[in-house]
Amino acid sequence: MLFLLILFCWGPAVVTSSQVWPLYSTPRKTVTLSSYGGHVFQEKGVWNYSTMLLREDMGVLILGARGTIFALDLNNITHKKAMVKWEVIPSMRTSCSFKGRDFETECLNYIRILHKMSDGRMYVCGTNAFDPTCDYMSYTDGNLILENNQYDGRGKCPFDPFQRSASELVDGQLYSATTVNFMGTKPVIMRSFNSTIQTEVSASWLWDPTFVGMKHVAEGEENPEGDDDKIYLFFSEVSMEYDSYKTLAVSRVARVCKGDLGGQLTLVRKWTSFQKARLDCSLPETKLPVLIQDVFLFCPGNWSTCVFYGVFTPQTVLSQYSTVCAYRIQDIREVFSKGKFKTMVNIDNNLKWITYYGDVPDPRPGACINNDARQKGFFKSLDLPDKTLLFIRDRPLMDQAVEPPSKQPLLVKKGAAFTSIVVASTTALDGSIHQVMFIGTASGSVLKAVNYDGETVIIEEVQLFARSEPVKILRLSSTVGQLYAGSDVAAVQMPLSACDYYTSCMDCVLARDPYCGWDLISNSCVAVNSILPDSHSEVVQSLRDGNASHCPAVESTKTITFFYPGNTVSLLCEPGSNLAQVQWHVNGHPVENSNVYQIQHNTLLILNASESDAGHYNCTSVETIKGVDYVTQTVTYELRLGNFMQSIFLALTVLVIILTLILLALVIWNFYKGYLSFSKCLNNNKESLSGSTANIAS
Ligand SMILES: *[C@@H]1O[C@H](CO)[C@@H](O)[C@H](O)[C@H]1NC(C)=O
Ligand SMILES: *[C@@H]1O[C@H](CO)[C@@H](O)[C@H](O)[C@H]1NC(C)=O
Ligand SMILES: *[C@@H]1O[C@H](CO)[C@@H](O)[C@H](O)[C@H]1NC(C)=O
Ligand SMILES: *[C@@H]1O[C@H](CO)[C@@H](O)[C@H](O)[C@H]1NC(C)=O
Repeated sequence: MLFLLILFCWGPAVVTSSQVWPLYSTPRKTVTLSSYGGHVFQEKGVWNYSTMLLREDMGVLILGARGTIFALDLNNITHKKAMVKWEVIPSMRTSCSFKGRDFETECLNYIRILHKMSDGRMYVCGTNAFDPTCDYMSYTDGNLILENNQYDGRGKCPFDPFQRSASELVDGQLYSATTVNFMGTKPVIMRSFNSTIQTEVSASWLWDPTFVGMKHVAEGEENPEGDDDKIYLFFSEVSMEYDSYKTLAVSRVARVCKGDLGGQLTLVRKWTSFQKARLDCSLPETKLPVLIQDVFLFCPGNWSTCVFYGVFTPQTVLSQYSTVCAYRIQDIREVFSKGKFKTMVNIDNNLKWITYYGDVPDPRPGACINNDARQKGFFKSLDLPDKTLLFIRDRPLMDQAVEPPSKQPLLVKKGAAFTSIVVASTTALDGSIHQVMFIGTASGSVLKAVNYDGETVIIEEVQLFARSEPVKILRLSSTVGQLYAGSDVAAVQMPLSACDYYTSCMDCVLARDPYCGWDLISNSCVAVNSILPDSHSEVVQSLRDGNASHCPAVESTKTITFFYPGNTVSLLCEPGSNLAQVQWHVNGHPVENSNVYQIQHNTLLILNASESDAGHYNCTSVETIKGVDYVTQTVTYELRLGNFMQSIFLALTVLVIILTLILLALVIWNFYKGYLSFSKCLNNNKESLSGSTANIAS
């Protein structure tokens, strides 16, 4: 096949220097949602799709938006199964705006809490025009029904729709972290429904916090120490431990015990088990603490194997690096149950938090009631002695920070801030198990990343929403094998892998996706979990090494291109992936940037081409993995000098063809009209002829 690619680029071309693509933390592929097999859900006139509850038991995704709750088919979220409106009544909206809040954006009902109850119903709360309100909801016979018993949502759901909060429903009790006043200035961590237990109102407990996540860990199960379940809370707040010329924020992990009933005389109806520690996920190059944005609890086995994955963003605009860290539950427990405390001292009229070296009372402050406490006669928190309670009331902060096991982030990436994370687990072809991170970004995409022996690779970046629409929420259904994401404008669903996106063996293997492998028999990139054990397939997968040496060499495409002396010739060659380097050769010699050649990201420009530039141009996309170069695609151009006479001849030929076609079309048109008036033609030949002439003219 012969392609003609004649480029007329007169004048000097605008040339940017060839872009350097950092190979570090760059997604290998940038993919659209549709090519990943995703679906979008959007309801006309509804915004802020930012709360989700997976009801795998009912096959639906409960999606909370502004003034509306949806039940969507988990397998296909474009299929809306039910919806219910929960809007603010006009008088409340007016009174909200009288109090100085924005009528159009703030004085509305943003659904912020959705939990499943043990009886199958759901607990739902909304901001309700700065008057947080909760209700029970059921999904029966294909209908979403709100019970319309409106309960006070203060302390459960924020007043302000722009404020973040966290909650968890455990054993029929609601644990929530939010602010309890209209101004949004009084933070609280509270357990409600039966008797309310909450945090002490004190800056040393919570100082202007931003709550991002809450997780229940069933540590009471099969616990040899007879320990209790814990509720872990992740947030950022103003730091108390740093001396700084300006307020510095830090990330925290805090926890309370499920069985905490508060104290008898001290800490009455307050947590006796509230402890917090700094959470570090520091970047190698900056010492400023990073701020947590979301957390995912991943438990591969019993609770002792649980790991918290957190995403962090910088607190100054000077840094653009986001990070991901994973923390083992055992490391967090160690800090709380064995670590030192911090204490506040007054040094030269300056309050400082320093390590506490004094005696620690027994039972240990902040500890849950465990076998040790029971042995000493303390069966519930109400039994705890005052000195234990006073100690923890005044010293909720641990001295030591919680760090990830390797003391460094799993992933560091420059660019759009990370907003959310979920982690899936999958078994590779060789039986090894991998955790796959899906990280939502402020630029509407999700990154899919895996850590192989300390090296994190970003397999793909899938663009879910417009670049201006941050991912607000991510949810994972391992049973359905789908990821759900919400933003202000839409909700989307996408599969955890899209192996058929890869069409060559090289590309499929170099993706290093634990879900995918190249089947040498069917010549396709297949999902490894779909391969039957007794099938005669020969599948290549090489996750740690990205070894694609079993793949056949890629086929080259060849194009013949004509050029004219003095023009700028531009030869296109898209790199096979974001990690590939493009290499150009002319007649077998490497091309380098010069005053003739400009190598750009996806093109080679030959400036002011002369006759001597004719020849064979070869572009190869080369990806280097573990020191091995793989050619992922090759494109060859045969550049021929276009003869001037030849080009005139060509132009004339094209002109003749076009004219012939026009003529032909006119003849057909004429004949068609003539045929219609064929009977008339017999009667009055002259009339019909003049009619045809008129047709031609029109
Ligand atoms: C809700 O969505 C609208 C439209 O995108 C956006 O302008 C607004 O900031 C969102 N509100 C909240 C509370 O996120
Ligand atoms: C998803 O549901 C929509 C609406 O019910 C339907 O039109 C569409 O065909 C479905 N798509 C798939 C892939 O099932
Ligand atoms: C909460 O109160 C109900 C009755 O009001 C009781 O049945 C239940 O056991 C209580 N739950 C807890 C955890 O105290
Ligand atoms: C949890 O599982 C691990 C191995 O999977 C085992 O060694 C450990 O004893 C178990 N712990 C508890 C508390 O059951």
